[in-house]
Amino acid sequence: MGLERADDAGVYKVTDEIAIIQTVDFFTPIVDDPYWFGQIAAANALSDVYAMGGVPKTAMNLVAFPAKDMDISVLRRIIEGGLDKMREAGVVLVGGHTVEDPELKYGLSVTGYIHPDRVLTKKNLKVGDLLILTKRLGTGIIGTAIKGALASQDVTDKVTRAMATLNKDAAEVMQDYPVHACTDITGFGFLGHLAEMVDGSGCGVRIKSGSVPVYHEALEYAAMGLVPAGAYRNREFREKTVDFGASVERNVQDVLFDPQTSGGLLISVDATHAQDLLKALKEKGVQDAAMVGEVIAEPKEKILVE
Ligand code: CO
Ligand code: CO
Ligand code: CO
Repeated sequence: MGLERADDAGVYKVTDEIAIIQTVDFFTPIVDDPYWFGQIAAANALSDVYAMGGVPKTAMNLVAFPAKDMDISVLRRIIEGGLDKMREAGVVLVGGHTVEDPELKYGLSVTGYIHPDRVLTKKNLKVGDLLILTKRLGTGIIGTAIKGALASQDVTDKVTRAMATLNKDAAEVMQDYPVHACTDITGFGFLGHLAEMVDGSGCGVRIKSGSVPVYHEALEYAAMGLVPAGAYRNREFREKTVDFGASVERNVQDVLFDPQTSGGLLISVDATHAQDLLKALKEKGVQDAAMVGEVIAEPKEKILVE
């Protein structure tokens, strides 16, 4: 796949039966606990392979570690967290690289595979499709509240577990349905990633904001002004694509633009199979999955949020 239509991961066709999927992701800690940070970083890096419809197989660790200021046991816990996630995903760690750096960073490069005819991209929305989102939104806003020591332990735990949850189950369930396009929700936020799907598609999208799964705490924090800079950047970047109805409150808009870490899959599926897919996702334990909108003919390449 060419770079002019950047997708979640790179895909290279090896034979008529096999294409490899490659992706890399790493970042600074977003939670205090090193073991959970390791799990989240791994789940986040693996997610792009799932978003392409693929199966991750091998991974390499990428580590930047402040060895002078931090105990090596912290690094050990991060790596353990990452390894446990890879095991859960059925992924083998085949290597890695560590550098000394004033700022701790961790992530993975991941290789997966897929049948070349079954690659799911962002770019194949069909008018009439229904859209399903598999995880709740608001982790960036709640992360800001955690950094400001304003978040409760309860919501911190909830969001930490959700970010560490693999998109594996959702990706496996989706294989059995006529899915036309898929991406995972990360730094550009729900509307930013949806805008990538809408760009060049020749279709529009209608979102029912009341149906989008969100952490109610994120709405509360956003109403208090705890909105990360990334959410403002995402809004500025996509302002012209998104049309908010008069009833969509500002804090709801903020959550829809909130940058996510290890967010859910956004799936565009043939409408006649959408309810069955949603039911199957829930049966598989993807509890927060919800129908959030539909693909429409007009206005073209716009997102209407109601
Ligand atoms: Co992605
Ligand atoms: Co990525
Ligand atoms: Co090396």
